[in-house]
Amino acid sequence: MSQQTEPTRAASLPSFDRDSAGRARLGRSVLADLFAPGQLSTPAYVYDLTGIRAAAQALVEAFGEAPHLVAYAVKANTAGPVVRTIAAAGCGADVVSGGELAVALGAGIPPQRIVMSGVAKLDGEIDAALMAGPHGIAAIQLESVEEASRVAARARALGRRARVGLRLNPGVLVDTHVHVATGHDEAKFGIPMADLGAAFEAIDAACELSLVGISSHVGSQLMETRGYLLAAERVCDVVAARDAKGPIIELVDFGGGFGIDYGGTSPLAPDVFARAALDLARRRGLEGRTIVVEPGRSLVAAMGVLVARVIQTKRARSGDQGGERRWLMIDAGMNDLIRPALYQAKHRIEPLDAPVPAGARGIRVVGPVCESSDDFGEHPMPESAPDLVVIRDAGAYGYTMASEYNGRALPIEVFLDGDAAPQVKRPRGVDAWVRERLEEPVARGDAGR
Ligand code: LLP
Repeated sequence: MSQQTEPTRAASLPSFDRDSAGRARLGRSVLADLFAPGQLSTPAYVYDLTGIRAAAQALVEAFGEAPHLVAYAVKANTAGPVVRTIAAAGCGADVVSGGELAVALGAGIPPQRIVMSGVAKLDGEIDAALMAGPHGIAAIQLESVEEASRVAARARALGRRARVGLRLNPGVLVDTHVHVATGHDEAKFGIPMADLGAAFEAIDAACELSLVGISSHVGSQLMETRGYLLAAERVCDVVAARDAKGPIIELVDFGGGFGIDYGGTSPLAPDVFARAALDLARRRGLEGRTIVVEPGRSLVAAMGVLVARVIQTKRARSGDQGGERRWLMIDAGMNDLIRPALYQAKHRIEPLDAPVPAGARGIRVVGPVCESSDDFGEHPMPESAPDLVVIRDAGAYGYTMASEYNGRALPIEVFLDGDAAPQVKRPRGVDAWVRERLEEPVARGDAGR
C-alpha cells in the first residue's frame, strides 16, 4: 500500500503563544511586561524578528541546491529591521515603487536580487531600477505591451540595457477575496495570453531590452496549490515558447500569495508551494533556471501583533424587546489596521494578560475612528473588560497600510529578537501632524515640483 503523507500545513502559532500563567507572549517576550504602566505606549505593532528569520530561512532551504530567488514582497512590511532580517536570511525583494526599491537597497539587498512589479511605474522609478548597481535590478516586470516602449525609452536616455520580465496574466481566478485576486481576466495586472505575441514583438523591436524572465502572481492568501500551479503551468508554457525563439529565459517567477492561518483554516506551508513549484519546473525541463517566488504575508504576518488599550466599553439598548448591544472600544482603529474594513478580514483579538475564558460572550470590538467600518468584528471577551488586547497576525499589510486619518498618530513599532532588548521606532506624533497641517503653503516657485 502506498503511503500517503499529509503535506505540511502552516504552523498556526509560530511566534505567538501564552506562558504557563496564560500571559500572551510574542517570541520570548511577555507582552504585558512591555506595556506595563510607564512602559511602551499603544497602539503598537510588535514583531518577532526571530520568527521572521526562521520563516525566511525555511523557505530558502526548501529550494536546496536548486538556483532560486526568494524575492520578499516588501509591501507586506517595510520596516528596516524586518527587511534587513529577511535580507540576511538570503532573500531578495519584490518591490512596486521607487520608495520600496530604496528601502530594499538600503537594507542591503543587492540589485541583482530585486525584481520590480507595478502596472504604472513612473519614469523616475524605472530610472532608479535601471541605475541600481552596475547592471540595474534583476528584472523590471512589464505589465502591459505599452510599457515595453516606455522602459526602452528610459534605457536609451540613460545609456543602459534594461533587463525585463514579462508578467503574465494567466487568466486563473483563484479562491480568495476579490480585492486580492490578480490573475484573472478583468484584473489590471499582467499581460494576457492573447497579447503575448504583441508583447514579444514590442520587446524584440527594442534593442535596449533583454527579456530575462517570465512571471505571474495570481493572488494573495492562497490556501492550496491548485490555482498557483495552474498559473505556474502557463508560465512554463510561455518560457518554453520563448526559449524556442531566442536567448533562454533565466528567471521563472511564480509569484507569491502563500496564505496564513488567521484562526480559521490552516493553509499549506510556504515550503510546500515552493517544492511544488520546483517539481513542476523540473518536470517541464527547466531545472537550472532560477526559480523565483515572491512571498510577502507568509514571512511576516503571524510574527506580528498589534497591541491596543481598551478605552471604554459601551452598552446601548436595542429595540423595544429589552435587547442590548455591547462594544469594546480600543485605541487602535482602521487607520492602524485597515484589513477588517477593506477586506472583511477577521483578526483574532484576545486579552493580553489571560486567555479568553471558555464560554465567554462575544462583544463587538471597535476603534475610535469616525467610520462605521472601523469595526474589528465580534470577539469573545471576559465579562470584565481587559486593560489591553492583542490583535493577532498583524505583521503583514498592517503598518504599511496605516494612515493618519482623523488626525491620529501612526502606531509605534517594536522589534523583538530573542533575549535582546526590544527596539522601538516612533513615527512623528500628533503634534508634528498638527504643525504640518497648519503650515502655510509656500509660493509655487519655492515648493520645488
Ligand atoms: N508579488 C506581487 C506581484 C504582488 O502583487 C504581491 C501582493 C505579492 C507578490 C505578495 O503577496 P503575498 O505573498 O503577500 O500574498 N493588502 C492585502 C494583500 C495585497 C497583496 C498585493 N500583492 C491584504 O492585506 O490582504
